Amino acid sequence: MSAVPTIDLNDGKTIPQLGFGVFQIPPADTAEAVSTALEAGYRHIDTAEMYGNERGVGEALRASGLDRADVFITTKLNNGFHEPDAARKAFAETLAELDSDYVDLFLIHWPLPTLYGGDFVSTWKTLEEFRSDGRARSIGVSNFQVAHLERLAAESDVVPAVNQIELHPYFHNATVDGYGRAHGVATEAWAPIAQGKVLGDPALANIAAKYDKSPAQVVLRWHIQHGNIVFPKSTTPSRIRENFALFDFELEQADVLVIDALDKGEAGRDGPNPDAFDYVPS
Ligand SMILES: NC(=O)c1ccc[n+]([C@@H]2O[C@H](COP(=O)([O-])OP(=O)(O)OC[C@H]3O[C@@H](n4cnc5c(N)ncnc54)[C@H](OP(=O)(O)O)[C@@H]3O)[C@@H](O)[C@H]2O)c1
Repeated sequence: MSAVPTIDLNDGKTIPQLGFGVFQIPPADTAEAVSTALEAGYRHIDTAEMYGNERGVGEALRASGLDRADVFITTKLNNGFHEPDAARKAFAETLAELDSDYVDLFLIHWPLPTLYGGDFVSTWKTLEEFRSDGRARSIGVSNFQVAHLERLAAESDVVPAVNQIELHPYFHNATVDGYGRAHGVATEAWAPIAQGKVLGDPALANIAAKYDKSPAQVVLRWHIQHGNIVFPKSTTPSRIRENFALFDFELEQADVLVIDALDKGEAGRDGPNPDAFDYVPS
């Protein structure tokens, strides 16, 4: 039914390459936005405990009448709950909010290397428990730098299935992305259109005109052709549908290279640097 390709994960599972993100969607509006996305054909939703809107995701899923098995749900551990017992409690609460027995993918949202004595390894081993008992079908990380991934490789037995990182035409996050690709960690690109900030770039306008597509569609298609997993966010129904219409055209390699050349390296990073980020909700 859906033309969305799947990406193979290192644990034998698969994930739809295109999903719908719900960061900054107010809790009261989330069920409606997710319902619109499910009607448009999305079968992958990306939420987090810290977004406060897991319940709305669960509501939309129930209202859709779709089988739970037909929709891939990702959520993430709240930065305040990295200690093992706190993580166990938080994960049970997440499942209750989603009204589901399991999630398809559960992530450590941020490594927080300056907090918890720098110990994200015991947090990771707690996620391994959730995978072992089947309540998280896959587990992964988000915003992990190469040093953090190397430490997990040295001190634990399970390689994260994904690393969800900031990645868009202005910030390719190439070192982290490259490490993941070399070690079987799939790259999920958050803020795939840089929260709209790349869309006014003249190079994208030219390419969009050539294919009779929008700049957002061109950028999302660029991600797809690079093998990234993406989940653009929108609360605008027409954009929700627009962002799903990526599979009836293909960028020529010359155009991919034009977008590749927009990378500004570290200067293009728009969000927080994971080495320093230490936000904990009060
Ligand atoms: N792991 C992490 O730390 C982390 C951090 C950030 C994000 N994420 C995940 O990644 C997802 C996507 O990132 P994001 O929400 O930060 O940013 P994004 O998807 O790059 O951009 C969302 C913004 O772009 C606008 N937009 C969407 N489609 C558009 C289109 N076709 N044309 C023009 N504007 C468009 C939206 O506006 P309207 O809503 O007004 O339409 C919204 O302001 C999040 O929802 C979340 O699931 C994860």
